[in-house]
Amino acid sequence: MMRSRIAGTGGYLPDRVLTNAELEEMVSTTDDWIRERTGIRERRIVAPGQTTCDLATAAAQAALEMASVAAADIDLIIVATTTPDRVYPSTACLLQERLGVHGCPAFDVQAVCTGFMYALAIADRFIRTGGVRYALVVGAETYSRILDWNDRTTCVLFGDGAGAVVLEAVTEPGILSTHIHADGRYKELLTVPWGIGQGYDRLREVSGFMTMQGAEVFRHAVRMLGAIVDETLAANGMQRGEVDWLVPHQANIRIIEATAKKLHLGLDRVVVTVAYHGNTSAASVPLALDVAVRDGRIQRGDVVLLEAFGGGFTWGSALVRF
Ligand code: UT7
Repeated sequence: MMRSRIAGTGGYLPDRVLTNAELEEMVSTTDDWIRERTGIRERRIVAPGQTTCDLATAAAQAALEMASVAAADIDLIIVATTTPDRVYPSTACLLQERLGVHGCPAFDVQAVCTGFMYALAIADRFIRTGGVRYALVVGAETYSRILDWNDRTTCVLFGDGAGAVVLEAVTEPGILSTHIHADGRYKELLTVPWGIGQGYDRLREVSGFMTMQGAEVFRHAVRMLGAIVDETLAANGMQRGEVDWLVPHQANIRIIEATAKKLHLGLDRVVVTVAYHGNTSAASVPLALDVAVRDGRIQRGDVVLLEAFGGGFTWGSALVRF
C-alpha cells in the first residue's frame, strides 16, 4: 500500500496588517486585553476584491515550487474553507482553473477551523487506496468578511491567509496517522447562522456574521484537544515527549499552552504564529507549518503533531514524519 509524505509547503498572507492599536479605535478593547487573553498582536486582512481563491492560489504555487511538482502533475485538489468565493463552484474548482489544470477531482471541505485536518485525512486516504500520486491540500480563509467589526468579542480574534501542502505517494509513511471527529450538538456555540436553508425571506433577517460563545468554546477546545493528543499517541504506540514539534491551531496562546503541557513539550518545540496571524481558521495549521519549515526549525525526519479545533464542533489531528 502506498503512503503519503509532505513534499512541499506554502503559505500566503495578504499585505495589510491590522494591529491591536487600530482595533482600539474601532471597538471598546485594548492591546493589553487582546495580548493577555489571546496572544494576538496583529493579523492580516485582504484588500477589497481579494478573495479566498487568490490567497489559495499563492499558497498552492509556493507549495508546488518547494515540492518541485508541476501543476499538471496534480491528481487531486482539496481546499478547506468556510469562506468560499462563491456558493458554487467550489473554491477548489476555481483554484484548479487558476493553476491551469483540468480534469483531476477538485472539491472543498467545510469543517471550519479543523478543515485542513479533514482535508489532509481525506487526501491521505486517496493516496493510500491508490490512483493519486500528487495531492494538493489547501486551507484558505477570508474571515474578515464574516466578522462583525462592531463586536469586540470576535473581531479581534481572526485574520485572513492561506496555507498549502503537496502530498506525494511514497512507500515509507510520512503521514503516520490522521484522526478527525465532530459533534453537532455544539452547533450553536460557534456559528454563522445565515444560509440557504433559512429560506428566501429569512435570508435578509438572519446574521451573516460569525458568533461565538468564547469561554464555552475555550473549555471544550482544551478538553477535546487534550483527548486527541492521547488518541494520536496511542494509535502510534508513542509516549509523550517523543514528538519533536507541535503545530497547533492558532486560536489562543492559552489553548496552545494547555496542549503543549499535555504533550510534555516546552514552548520552544511548539510553532506559534498566533501573535502575527491571529486565528486564520482552516489556514492556521498549514500556515504555521510552512513558517517553521521555511525558517528551518522543522527538518526532514522530525515527528510533528498537527491539531485543530473549530465550529461544529469539529476537531482533528495528524502525526507526521516530515
Ligand atoms: O478557532 C475556533 C475555536 N475558537 C477558539 O478556540 C476560541 C476560544 N475562546 C477564546 O479564545 C476565549 O474565550 C476568548 C479570547 C474569545 C475570550 O477570552 P475569555 O478569557 O474567555 O474572556 P470572556 O469571554 O470570559 O470575557 C471576559 C471579559 C468580559 O467582560 P465581563 O463580562 O467580565 O465584564 C468580556 O465582555 O472580557 C470582555 N471582553 C473584552 N474586553 C476587551 C470580551 N472581548 C473583549 C475585548 N476587549 N476584545
